[in-house]
Amino acid sequence: MDVLGKGIVGGIMFEMKTWVRYLFPTRYFAVYYPTPDSIIHRMLKLAEVSKEDVVYDLGCGDGRVLIAAAKQRGARGVGYELDRELAQAAESNVRKENLQHLIRIIRGDASKADVSEASVLALYLSERGNCKLFRDLKPSLQPGTRIVSFFFTIEGWQRNLIKTDSQDNMSVYLYRVPGIASKIEDSHQRLNGQTNF
Ligand SMILES: C[S@@+](CC[C@H](N)C(=O)[O-])C[C@H]1O[C@@H](n2cnc3c(N)ncnc32)[C@H](O)[C@@H]1O
Repeated sequence: MDVLGKGIVGGIMFEMKTWVRYLFPTRYFAVYYPTPDSIIHRMLKLAEVSKEDVVYDLGCGDGRVLIAAAKQRGARGVGYELDRELAQAAESNVRKENLQHLIRIIRGDASKADVSEASVLALYLSERGNCKLFRDLKPSLQPGTRIVSFFFTIEGWQRNLIKTDSQDNMSVYLYRVPGIASKIEDSHQRLNGQTNF
């Protein structure tokens, strides 16, 4: 088989593997689709990510969101990825960019993550995935944590939706985990008319 043939067969196998995982009951919340750079830029902007932040990408793929957050904003990052090859690719991309001091990749199930250190959660999963994930993560979610989700909303979290950035039918949603830390900010924002609550 020539190189082109191998590439096509490899691509088909990859698509099949990811869809089988998603459609049948597995721990996978989503198939792999990388977030385009322009959307990553919008996510980081909407969540106002800065060097003070620790960004968790739950289902980090090849690590591109965390790498952009570190390079563009100086943020630290932690990525969870179930797929072994993608987790390895993410680790290798972090090494190539010399960002090991800022980014840690964990090969594992995002629903088991301890997100108590996170100030920002970045998501590109699915409606079903978001729903399940937040049920599992509840115990370690900290009040005030910003959640930025590309394309998919979080069912039942409407009250915690802070802003939506919609362009070209591609929406990015910003939520904040309610609680004591966010209440003070929320009341300031309400006074300034900046919130949807
Ligand atoms: C749509 S892709 C997004 C990848 C990356 N966040 C990005 O924006 O480029 C979803 C990723 O989540 C991973 N994933 C799905 N379920 C997961 C789970 N339970 N734990 C960890 N990773 C998961 C998939 O393997 C896939 O890489």
